[in-house]
Amino acid sequence: MTTHTTTVTQTEAPPSFFDSATYIPPDAIFALTAEYNTDTSPNKVNLGQGTYRDENGQPWVLPSVQKSREILLTQGLNHEYLPILGLQSFRDNATLMALGPDLYEKVQSRLSTCQALSGTGSLHTAGLLLRSCHSPPPKIYIPSPTWSNHHQVFSSLGFPCESFTYYDSSHKDLNIESYISALKTATPGSVVILHACAHNPTGCDPTKQQWIQLGQIIKERGLFPLFDAAYLGFNSGNVDDDAFAIRYFVGELGLEVAVCLSFAKNMGLYGERTGCLFLVTRSKETAVNAQSTLEMLQRSEVSNPPAYGAKIAATILSSRELKDLWYKDLETMSGRIRAMRVALYNSLNDYGAPGNWDHLVRQSGMFGFLGLEPDVVLKLKEEYHIYMAGNSRVSIAGLNETNVEYVARSIAECLKGY
Ligand SMILES: Cc1ncc(COP(=O)(O)O)c(C=O)c1O
Repeated sequence: MTTHTTTVTQTEAPPSFFDSATYIPPDAIFALTAEYNTDTSPNKVNLGQGTYRDENGQPWVLPSVQKSREILLTQGLNHEYLPILGLQSFRDNATLMALGPDLYEKVQSRLSTCQALSGTGSLHTAGLLLRSCHSPPPKIYIPSPTWSNHHQVFSSLGFPCESFTYYDSSHKDLNIESYISALKTATPGSVVILHACAHNPTGCDPTKQQWIQLGQIIKERGLFPLFDAAYLGFNSGNVDDDAFAIRYFVGELGLEVAVCLSFAKNMGLYGERTGCLFLVTRSKETAVNAQSTLEMLQRSEVSNPPAYGAKIAATILSSRELKDLWYKDLETMSGRIRAMRVALYNSLNDYGAPGNWDHLVRQSGMFGFLGLEPDVVLKLKEEYHIYMAGNSRVSIAGLNETNVEYVARSIAECLKGY
Protein backbone atom coordinates (compact mmCIF):
# COMPACT_ATOMS: atom_id res chain seq x y z
CA MET A 1 0.00 0.00 0.00
CA THR A 2 1.40 3.36 -0.93
CA THR A 3 0.95 6.40 1.28
CA HIS A 4 0.90 9.89 -0.07
CA THR A 5 2.67 12.57 1.86
CA THR A 6 2.20 16.20 1.14
CA THR A 7 5.30 18.33 1.39
CA VAL A 8 4.86 22.01 1.87
CA THR A 9 7.80 23.84 0.42
CA GLN A 10 8.39 27.30 1.75
CA THR A 11 8.93 29.53 -1.24
CA GLU A 12 9.63 33.23 -1.20
CA ALA A 13 6.70 35.44 -2.03
CA PRO A 14 6.67 35.98 -5.79
CA PRO A 15 7.75 39.41 -6.97
CA SER A 16 4.99 41.96 -7.46
CA PHE A 17 4.02 42.94 -10.93
CA PHE A 18 4.52 46.50 -9.69
CA ASP A 19 7.97 46.20 -8.13
CA SER A 20 9.32 48.79 -10.51
CA ALA A 21 6.75 51.43 -9.42
CA THR A 22 8.59 54.21 -7.66
CA TYR A 23 7.06 56.38 -4.96
CA ILE A 24 5.83 59.68 -6.37
CA PRO A 25 5.10 62.36 -3.76
CA PRO A 26 1.48 63.62 -3.74
CA ASP A 27 0.62 66.59 -5.94
CA ALA A 28 1.73 69.63 -3.97
CA ILE A 29 -1.42 71.74 -4.42
CA PHE A 30 -3.90 68.95 -3.66
CA ALA A 31 -1.75 67.96 -0.64
CA LEU A 32 -1.80 71.58 0.56
CA THR A 33 -5.61 71.66 0.36
CA ALA A 34 -5.79 68.44 2.40
CA GLU A 35 -3.46 69.99 4.99
CA TYR A 36 -5.59 73.16 5.09
CA ASN A 37 -8.75 71.10 5.60
CA THR A 38 -7.33 69.48 8.74
CA ASP A 39 -6.07 72.81 10.19
CA THR A 40 -8.33 73.76 13.10
CA SER A 41 -7.15 77.38 13.45
CA PRO A 42 -10.00 79.92 13.18
CA ASN A 43 -7.58 82.20 11.32
CA LYS A 44 -6.75 79.78 8.52
CA VAL A 45 -6.76 81.11 4.97
CA ASN A 46 -6.51 78.97 1.85
CA LEU A 47 -4.74 80.76 -1.00
CA GLY A 48 -3.49 77.52 -2.57
CA GLN A 49 -5.85 75.90 -5.00
CA GLY A 50 -7.15 78.06 -7.85
CA THR A 51 -10.86 77.85 -7.11
CA TYR A 52 -13.15 80.87 -6.94
CA ARG A 53 -14.61 81.76 -3.56
CA ASP A 54 -17.32 84.32 -2.83
CA GLU A 55 -16.94 87.21 -0.35
CA ASN A 56 -17.72 84.77 2.48
CA GLY A 57 -14.98 82.38 1.41
CA GLN A 58 -17.51 79.86 0.09
CA PRO A 59 -17.68 78.01 -3.27
CA TRP A 60 -19.96 79.89 -5.66
CA VAL A 61 -22.53 78.32 -7.93
CA LEU A 62 -22.90 80.89 -10.70
CA PRO A 63 -26.49 82.18 -11.05
CA SER A 64 -26.30 81.35 -14.78
CA VAL A 65 -25.32 77.78 -13.89
CA GLN A 66 -28.09 77.58 -11.30
CA LYS A 67 -30.61 78.70 -13.92
CA SER A 68 -29.25 76.25 -16.46
CA ARG A 69 -29.57 73.40 -13.94
CA GLU A 70 -33.21 74.34 -13.30
CA ILE A 71 -33.94 74.33 -17.03
CA LEU A 72 -32.31 70.93 -17.43
CA LEU A 73 -34.33 69.53 -14.54
CA THR A 74 -37.57 70.92 -15.96
CA GLN A 75 -36.76 69.38 -19.32
CA GLY A 76 -36.02 66.05 -17.62
CA LEU A 77 -32.47 64.85 -17.18
CA ASN A 78 -31.53 61.37 -18.22
CA HIS A 79 -28.20 59.63 -17.77
CA GLU A 80 -27.65 58.23 -21.22
CA TYR A 81 -24.20 58.07 -22.80
CA LEU A 82 -23.08 61.04 -24.83
CA PRO A 83 -21.64 60.35 -28.28
CA ILE A 84 -17.90 59.53 -28.27
CA LEU A 85 -16.91 63.07 -29.30
CA GLY A 86 -19.28 64.56 -26.73
CA LEU A 87 -22.36 66.75 -26.84
CA GLN A 88 -22.57 68.37 -30.27
CA SER A 89 -24.24 71.57 -29.04
CA PHE A 90 -21.56 71.95 -26.37
CA ARG A 91 -18.69 71.41 -28.83
CA ASP A 92 -20.18 73.87 -31.32
CA ASN A 93 -21.03 76.57 -28.79
CA ALA A 94 -17.75 76.27 -26.89
CA THR A 95 -15.80 76.73 -30.12
CA LEU A 96 -18.06 79.57 -31.20
CA MET A 97 -17.46 81.28 -27.84
CA ALA A 98 -13.68 81.06 -28.24
CA LEU A 99 -13.52 82.18 -31.88
CA GLY A 100 -16.39 84.68 -31.97
CA PRO A 101 -19.15 84.47 -34.62
CA ASP A 102 -17.29 85.96 -37.61
CA LEU A 103 -14.17 83.86 -37.34
CA TYR A 104 -16.18 80.78 -36.43
CA GLU A 105 -18.17 81.08 -39.62
CA LYS A 106 -15.02 81.61 -41.66
CA VAL A 107 -13.20 78.52 -40.39
CA GLN A 108 -16.15 76.28 -39.53
CA SER A 109 -15.43 73.75 -42.28
CA ARG A 110 -11.82 73.39 -41.06
CA LEU A 111 -12.66 72.69 -37.42
CA SER A 112 -12.20 69.47 -35.48
CA THR A 113 -13.80 69.45 -32.05
CA CYS A 114 -13.85 66.95 -29.23
CA GLN A 115 -15.35 67.28 -25.75
CA ALA A 116 -12.77 66.41 -23.11
CA LEU A 117 -12.26 66.08 -19.37
CA SER A 118 -11.90 69.77 -18.55
CA GLY A 119 -8.67 71.64 -19.36
CA THR A 120 -6.37 68.84 -18.27
CA GLY A 121 -8.19 66.24 -20.36
CA SER A 122 -8.18 68.59 -23.37
CA LEU A 123 -4.41 68.97 -23.10
CA HIS A 124 -3.97 65.23 -22.72
CA THR A 125 -6.20 64.51 -25.72
CA ALA A 126 -4.28 67.09 -27.76
CA GLY A 127 -1.09 65.28 -26.75
CA LEU A 128 -2.53 61.91 -27.82
CA LEU A 129 -3.46 63.35 -31.21
CA LEU A 130 -0.09 65.03 -31.76
CA ARG A 131 1.69 61.82 -30.83
CA SER A 132 -0.43 59.79 -33.21
CA CYS A 133 0.41 62.22 -36.05
CA HIS A 134 4.18 62.47 -35.47
CA SER A 135 6.81 59.83 -34.90
CA PRO A 136 8.99 60.53 -33.01
CA PRO A 137 6.79 62.94 -31.02
CA PRO A 138 7.74 66.60 -31.54
CA LYS A 139 9.44 68.68 -28.89
CA ILE A 140 7.07 70.63 -26.64
CA TYR A 141 8.21 74.06 -25.49
CA ILE A 142 6.67 75.02 -22.16
CA PRO A 143 6.89 78.52 -20.65
CA SER A 144 8.60 78.71 -17.28
CA PRO A 145 7.21 79.09 -14.69
CA THR A 146 3.93 77.42 -15.64
CA TRP A 147 0.96 75.47 -14.32
CA SER A 148 2.36 72.59 -12.30
CA ASN A 149 0.82 69.88 -14.50
CA HIS A 150 2.03 70.86 -17.98
CA HIS A 151 5.29 68.93 -17.91
CA GLN A 152 3.64 65.88 -16.39
CA VAL A 153 0.82 65.75 -18.96
CA PHE A 154 3.21 65.85 -21.91
CA SER A 155 6.19 63.95 -20.57
CA SER A 156 3.90 61.11 -19.44
CA LEU A 157 2.89 60.81 -23.10
CA GLY A 158 6.53 60.53 -24.15
CA PHE A 159 7.07 64.07 -25.47
CA PRO A 160 10.47 65.66 -24.98
CA CYS A 161 9.64 68.84 -23.02
CA GLU A 162 11.81 71.93 -22.87
CA SER A 163 11.22 74.98 -20.67
CA PHE A 164 11.75 78.52 -21.85
CA THR A 165 11.82 81.68 -19.78
CA TYR A 166 9.18 84.36 -20.29
CA TYR A 167 9.35 85.82 -16.80
CA ASP A 168 11.84 88.21 -15.24
CA SER A 169 11.96 87.23 -11.57
CA SER A 170 14.01 90.25 -10.50
CA HIS A 171 11.48 92.75 -11.90
CA LYS A 172 8.55 90.36 -11.42
CA ASP A 173 7.39 91.10 -14.95
CA LEU A 174 7.13 89.60 -18.43
CA ASN A 175 10.53 89.11 -20.07
CA ILE A 176 9.59 89.63 -23.69
CA GLU A 177 13.19 89.52 -24.95
CA SER A 178 13.68 86.08 -23.48
CA TYR A 179 10.28 84.94 -24.85
CA ILE A 180 11.18 86.14 -28.34
CA SER A 181 14.65 84.66 -28.32
CA ALA A 182 13.30 81.27 -27.16
CA LEU A 183 10.83 81.20 -30.05
CA LYS A 184 13.40 82.39 -32.58
CA THR A 185 15.74 79.54 -31.68
CA ALA A 186 13.08 76.83 -31.20
CA THR A 187 13.31 73.75 -33.41
CA PRO A 188 10.94 74.20 -36.37
CA GLY A 189 8.07 71.72 -36.29
CA SER A 190 7.88 71.82 -32.49
CA VAL A 191 4.84 72.62 -30.36
CA VAL A 192 4.66 75.70 -28.11
CA ILE A 193 2.30 75.80 -25.16
CA LEU A 194 0.75 79.26 -24.82
CA HIS A 195 -1.44 80.41 -21.94
CA ALA A 196 -4.21 82.20 -23.84
CA CYS A 197 -4.65 84.59 -20.88
CA ALA A 198 -4.16 84.80 -17.09
CA HIS A 199 -0.76 83.10 -17.25
CA ASN A 200 -0.51 80.64 -14.37
CA PRO A 201 1.26 81.23 -11.96
CA THR A 202 2.66 84.69 -12.70
CA GLY A 203 -0.37 86.59 -14.03
CA CYS A 204 1.99 88.13 -16.62
CA ASP A 205 0.35 88.13 -20.05
CA PRO A 206 1.80 89.60 -23.23
CA THR A 207 0.08 92.79 -24.39
CA LYS A 208 -1.87 92.66 -27.66
CA GLN A 209 1.12 94.18 -29.44
CA GLN A 210 3.41 91.55 -27.95
CA TRP A 211 1.04 88.72 -28.95
CA ILE A 212 1.18 90.02 -32.53
CA GLN A 213 4.96 89.93 -32.39
CA LEU A 214 5.04 86.44 -30.84
CA GLY A 215 2.52 85.11 -33.36
CA GLN A 216 4.57 86.35 -36.27
CA ILE A 217 7.69 84.61 -34.95
CA ILE A 218 5.75 81.39 -34.36
CA LYS A 219 4.57 81.53 -37.96
CA GLU A 220 8.00 82.33 -39.43
CA ARG A 221 9.67 79.63 -37.37
CA GLY A 222 7.13 76.94 -38.31
CA LEU A 223 6.05 76.21 -34.73
CA PHE A 224 2.67 74.81 -33.75
CA PRO A 225 0.71 76.88 -31.18
CA LEU A 226 -1.18 74.89 -28.58
CA PHE A 227 -3.32 77.26 -26.53
CA ASP A 228 -4.14 76.36 -22.97
CA ALA A 229 -7.30 78.41 -22.49
CA ALA A 230 -8.38 77.65 -18.93
CA TYR A 231 -9.50 81.19 -18.06
CA LEU A 232 -11.42 82.68 -21.01
CA GLY A 233 -13.71 85.40 -19.67
CA PHE A 234 -12.54 84.80 -16.12
CA ASN A 235 -9.43 86.91 -16.59
CA SER A 236 -10.79 90.27 -17.70
CA GLY A 237 -14.50 89.55 -17.37
CA ASN A 238 -14.76 89.65 -21.17
CA VAL A 239 -14.38 86.55 -23.34
CA ASP A 240 -13.53 88.55 -26.48
CA ASP A 241 -10.61 90.32 -24.80
CA ASP A 242 -9.31 87.11 -23.27
CA ALA A 243 -9.50 85.28 -26.60
CA PHE A 244 -7.47 87.93 -28.44
CA ALA A 245 -4.36 85.80 -29.04
CA ILE A 246 -6.32 82.76 -30.27
CA ARG A 247 -8.36 84.88 -32.67
CA TYR A 248 -5.33 86.79 -33.92
CA PHE A 249 -3.34 83.62 -34.62
CA VAL A 250 -6.24 82.03 -36.52
CA GLY A 251 -7.89 85.05 -38.14
CA GLU A 252 -4.96 87.29 -38.97
CA LEU A 253 -2.01 84.93 -39.23
CA GLY A 254 -3.93 81.99 -40.73
CA LEU A 255 -2.17 79.56 -38.44
CA GLU A 256 -3.28 76.05 -37.58
CA VAL A 257 -3.90 75.90 -33.82
CA ALA A 258 -5.11 73.59 -31.09
CA VAL A 259 -7.13 75.16 -28.28
CA CYS A 260 -7.81 73.46 -24.95
CA LEU A 261 -10.88 74.97 -23.28
CA SER A 262 -11.84 74.51 -19.67
CA PHE A 263 -15.14 75.51 -18.07
CA ALA A 264 -13.82 74.83 -14.56
CA LYS A 265 -13.05 78.44 -13.66
CA ASN A 266 -15.22 80.52 -15.97
CA MET A 267 -18.40 78.56 -15.16
CA GLY A 268 -17.31 77.19 -11.80
CA LEU A 269 -17.80 73.64 -13.12
CA TYR A 270 -14.57 72.37 -11.51
CA GLY A 271 -15.67 68.88 -10.57
CA GLU A 272 -17.88 68.33 -13.61
CA ARG A 273 -14.79 68.04 -15.82
CA THR A 274 -16.19 70.08 -18.67
CA GLY A 275 -13.78 70.94 -21.45
CA CYS A 276 -13.32 70.94 -25.18
CA LEU A 277 -10.39 70.54 -27.50
CA PHE A 278 -10.70 72.13 -30.90
CA LEU A 279 -8.37 72.40 -33.84
CA VAL A 280 -8.39 74.84 -36.69
CA THR A 281 -6.74 72.93 -39.50
CA ARG A 282 -5.48 73.71 -42.98
CA SER A 283 -8.30 72.05 -44.95
CA LYS A 284 -11.70 70.45 -44.63
CA GLU A 285 -10.19 67.04 -45.37
CA THR A 286 -7.55 67.41 -42.63
CA ALA A 287 -10.28 68.46 -40.18
CA VAL A 288 -12.38 65.39 -40.97
CA ASN A 289 -9.39 63.07 -40.62
CA ALA A 290 -8.12 64.67 -37.42
CA GLN A 291 -11.59 64.53 -35.88
CA SER A 292 -11.94 60.85 -36.77
CA THR A 293 -8.61 60.20 -35.05
CA LEU A 294 -9.82 62.11 -32.00
CA GLU A 295 -12.92 59.94 -31.96
CA MET A 296 -10.84 56.76 -31.98
CA LEU A 297 -8.49 58.09 -29.27
CA GLN A 298 -11.41 59.16 -27.08
CA ARG A 299 -13.12 55.78 -27.50
CA SER A 300 -10.03 53.94 -26.28
CA GLU A 301 -9.43 56.38 -23.44
CA VAL A 302 -12.80 57.20 -21.80
CA SER A 303 -15.29 55.87 -24.37
CA ASN A 304 -17.37 59.02 -24.03
CA PRO A 305 -17.12 62.14 -21.86
CA PRO A 306 -19.27 63.16 -18.85
CA ALA A 307 -22.65 64.65 -19.68
CA TYR A 308 -23.85 66.90 -16.88
CA GLY A 309 -21.36 69.79 -17.09
CA ALA A 310 -21.53 69.80 -20.89
CA LYS A 311 -25.33 70.05 -20.75
CA ILE A 312 -25.11 72.93 -18.27
CA ALA A 313 -22.56 74.81 -20.38
CA ALA A 314 -24.38 74.17 -23.67
CA THR A 315 -27.66 75.42 -22.19
CA ILE A 316 -25.96 78.66 -21.15
CA LEU A 317 -24.01 79.20 -24.35
CA SER A 318 -26.99 78.54 -26.63
CA SER A 319 -29.37 80.97 -24.91
CA ARG A 320 -29.06 84.74 -25.37
CA GLU A 321 -30.61 85.35 -21.95
CA LEU A 322 -28.45 82.85 -20.07
CA LYS A 323 -25.33 83.99 -21.88
CA ASP A 324 -25.98 87.57 -20.75
CA LEU A 325 -26.41 86.31 -17.20
CA TRP A 326 -23.13 84.39 -17.50
CA TYR A 327 -21.34 87.53 -18.75
CA LYS A 328 -22.51 89.24 -15.55
CA ASP A 329 -21.20 86.31 -13.51
CA LEU A 330 -17.82 86.68 -15.24
CA GLU A 331 -17.77 90.35 -14.29
CA THR A 332 -18.71 89.51 -10.71
CA MET A 333 -15.88 86.99 -10.36
CA SER A 334 -13.18 88.93 -12.19
CA GLY A 335 -14.28 92.18 -10.52
CA ARG A 336 -14.09 90.70 -7.02
CA ILE A 337 -10.66 89.27 -7.77
CA ARG A 338 -9.44 92.63 -9.08
CA ALA A 339 -10.79 94.40 -5.99
CA MET A 340 -9.06 91.90 -3.68
CA ARG A 341 -5.81 92.30 -5.61
CA VAL A 342 -5.93 96.03 -4.95
CA ALA A 343 -6.96 95.50 -1.31
CA LEU A 344 -3.98 93.19 -0.72
CA TYR A 345 -1.66 95.65 -2.43
CA ASN A 346 -2.93 98.56 -0.33
CA SER A 347 -2.78 96.61 2.90
CA LEU A 348 0.76 95.37 2.24
CA ASN A 349 1.82 98.97 1.76
CA ASP A 350 -0.17 100.16 4.79
CA TYR A 351 1.52 97.58 7.00
CA GLY A 352 4.89 98.57 5.58
CA ALA A 353 5.66 95.13 4.12
CA PRO A 354 9.27 95.52 2.94
CA GLY A 355 9.74 95.65 -0.83
CA ASN A 356 7.84 96.94 -3.81
CA TRP A 357 4.43 95.34 -4.49
CA ASP A 358 3.58 97.03 -7.78
CA HIS A 359 3.82 93.69 -9.57
CA LEU A 360 0.70 92.54 -7.70
CA VAL A 361 -1.49 95.11 -9.43
CA ARG A 362 0.28 94.69 -12.78
CA GLN A 363 -0.60 90.99 -12.82
CA SER A 364 -4.00 89.74 -13.93
CA GLY A 365 -6.13 86.66 -13.55
CA MET A 366 -6.76 84.41 -10.64
CA PHE A 367 -3.30 84.44 -9.13
CA GLY A 368 -0.90 86.80 -7.48
CA PHE A 369 2.73 85.79 -7.71
CA LEU A 370 4.18 87.37 -4.58
CA GLY A 371 7.87 86.58 -5.02
CA LEU A 372 8.43 85.39 -1.41
CA GLU A 373 11.25 83.09 -0.36
CA PRO A 374 10.30 79.47 0.50
CA ASP A 375 11.10 79.97 4.22
CA VAL A 376 8.60 82.86 4.35
CA VAL A 377 5.95 80.71 2.63
CA LEU A 378 6.57 77.99 5.22
CA LYS A 379 6.43 80.39 8.14
CA LEU A 380 3.15 81.84 6.88
CA LYS A 381 1.68 78.36 6.86
CA GLU A 382 3.09 77.11 10.14
CA GLU A 383 2.71 80.22 12.28
CA TYR A 384 -0.10 82.16 10.63
CA HIS A 385 -2.14 79.31 9.03
CA ILE A 386 -1.97 81.00 5.62
CA TYR A 387 -1.63 78.42 2.86
CA MET A 388 -0.14 79.21 -0.55
CA ALA A 389 1.79 77.33 -3.26
CA GLY A 390 5.48 76.77 -2.51
CA ASN A 391 6.47 79.30 -5.20
CA SER A 392 4.42 81.97 -3.32
CA ARG A 393 1.57 81.96 -5.83
CA VAL A 394 -1.63 83.01 -4.10
CA SER A 395 -5.14 82.44 -5.35
CA ILE A 396 -6.53 85.96 -4.98
CA ALA A 397 -10.06 84.50 -4.93
CA GLY A 398 -9.29 83.11 -1.46
CA LEU A 399 -9.14 86.67 -0.12
CA ASN A 400 -12.13 88.60 1.19
CA GLU A 401 -12.88 91.66 3.29
CA THR A 402 -12.54 89.58 6.46
CA ASN A 403 -9.12 88.05 5.86
CA VAL A 404 -7.21 90.34 3.50
CA GLU A 405 -5.79 92.59 6.24
CA TYR A 406 -4.76 89.57 8.30
CA VAL A 407 -2.93 88.15 5.27
CA ALA A 408 -1.17 91.44 4.51
CA ARG A 409 -0.21 92.02 8.16
CA SER A 410 1.13 88.46 8.45
CA ILE A 411 3.24 88.83 5.30
CA ALA A 412 4.56 92.16 6.59
CA GLU A 413 5.43 90.64 9.98
CA CYS A 414 7.21 87.67 8.39
CA LEU A 415 9.24 89.90 6.11
CA LYS A 416 10.18 92.22 8.96
CA GLY A 417 11.33 89.15 10.87
CA TYR A 418 9.14 89.44 13.95
C1 LIG B 1 -3.08 77.00 -16.92
C2 LIG B 1 -4.02 75.90 -16.57
N1 LIG B 1 -4.31 74.99 -17.49
C3 LIG B 1 -5.16 73.99 -17.25
C4 LIG B 1 -5.77 73.86 -16.03
C5 LIG B 1 -6.69 72.70 -15.89
O1 LIG B 1 -7.79 72.82 -15.14
P1 LIG B 1 -9.01 71.81 -15.24
O2 LIG B 1 -8.48 70.49 -15.72
O3 LIG B 1 -9.54 71.75 -13.87
O4 LIG B 1 -9.93 72.41 -16.22
C6 LIG B 1 -5.50 74.79 -15.01
C7 LIG B 1 -6.08 74.67 -13.68
O5 LIG B 1 -5.70 75.24 -12.71
C8 LIG B 1 -4.60 75.84 -15.30
O6 LIG B 1 -4.31 76.79 -14.40
